[in-house]
Amino acid sequence: MACLKRRVAILFSGRGSNMEALVAAMAAPDYPATPVLLLTNRPDAGGLHGAAAQTVPARCIDHRPFRGDRAAHEAALLAALREVGAEIICLAGYMRILTPLLVGTFAGRMLNIHPSLLPLYPGLHTHERAIAAGDARHGCTVHVVTDVMDEGPMVAQAEVPILPSDDPDALAARVLVQEHLLYPRALATFIEGLQP
Ligand code: GRF
Repeated sequence: MACLKRRVAILFSGRGSNMEALVAAMAAPDYPATPVLLLTNRPDAGGLHGAAAQTVPARCIDHRPFRGDRAAHEAALLAALREVGAEIICLAGYMRILTPLLVGTFAGRMLNIHPSLLPLYPGLHTHERAIAAGDARHGCTVHVVTDVMDEGPMVAQAEVPILPSDDPDALAARVLVQEHLLYPRALATFIEGLQP
């Protein structure tokens, strides 16, 4: 029996490697979601030129012409998301703070991936901060998005060791490998828990 696939939009701002990992996972016939839109706020986002954008509709809605009018930019994003009937939003390196408009519209249906073991190190420079704190473990978290940045119910976490030789780049690379595995798994788990 064909499974009902949830319609997922992915928001990203840069390289887009997590977006690529999600799209690749969704190609599996039994994956419970399908990508309907790849949406970025940056015309120079590397992810616009990757493999995923060859097969999934990709759009850029640049925030800069909105000149700081966050609400108007988000209204444009929301219109694009509604046009494709997006049910679930995955933030994958989307580097803008969201307002209650988007978060509220997709309350309980928006996920984010963050490169730390939340609640440790919300915000930026997580790898530097974990090394500076002398932590033995670091990792990444997929969580439901709420009005507070990098908070919200955790869906899944993956850990990596911090090695004595690590600099932030080496640690980031080790975490990123786990991010690419974690996000598709977490999205599938999340969908299983949704009401039909
Ligand atoms: C990832 O480390 C993600 O956890 C963070 O931003 C980075 C985005 O990388 N939110 P990419 O664009 O998915 O390659």
